[in-house]
Amino acid sequence: MDNQAVEHWNSIYENKNENEVSWYQEYPQASIEFIKELKLPLTAHIIDIGGGESRLVDALLDMGYTNITVLDISERALQKTQNRLGEKGKLVQWVVTDITEFNPTEKYDLWHDRAVFHFLTDEENIIKYTSIAERAISQDGFLIMGTFSDKGPTKCSGLEIKQYTDKSLKDAFKDSFKQFSFQYIDHSTPFNTVQNFLFCTFQRK
Ligand SMILES: C[S@@+](CC[C@H](N)C(=O)[O-])C[C@H]1O[C@@H](n2cnc3c(N)ncnc32)[C@H](O)[C@@H]1O
Repeated sequence: MDNQAVEHWNSIYENKNENEVSWYQEYPQASIEFIKELKLPLTAHIIDIGGGESRLVDALLDMGYTNITVLDISERALQKTQNRLGEKGKLVQWVVTDITEFNPTEKYDLWHDRAVFHFLTDEENIIKYTSIAERAISQDGFLIMGTFSDKGPTKCSGLEIKQYTDKSLKDAFKDSFKQFSFQYIDHSTPFNTVQNFLFCTFQRK
């Protein structure tokens, strides 16, 4: 693993409350709307990449999903999320790894990523990510990707990010995925600023 990245993210989660980071959402509205569109069965295998302290897992559990995995590079983030969930956390699989080193042992019907893929700025890591997703997502399975758009910030959490348009994101995943839908969405941060995100749903070819 990239030790610097591990330390960076663990120290963020050690030192900040969940609503003291720009990406905080009380409820992951956009993600849930995109997920609802897919009408997946409650037994669908779902993985949230770089889930951190996101409340997406809470929302999915409340909807009745039974096969949820949350992956993050930060062990501290996943501990905090498990503490929040209490007993319900035992219903979830937790994976601590750098996504570029993830070795999936099952197939997922839905891969969700909000504000993680855009931290990969070099071609080598982008290709690692897309080929891991390609391997991990079942035939006809879905990938929901939320990144900063070309009208969004250029940095997050002090780190450089790569912005996307619907065309460049489609291009990154074009070998194995077809674009299903996309939308540009403003996220209001807890600091009263606005960040423009691009959300795309892709389907495995
Ligand atoms: C901006 S936060 C977004 C968190 C969450 N997806 C949300 O929407 O609230 C980025 C998250 O990705 C995780 N992360 C960053 N780089 C990663 C990597 N290479 N592999 C796995 N997780 C990573 C961080 O620990 C952090 O939880």
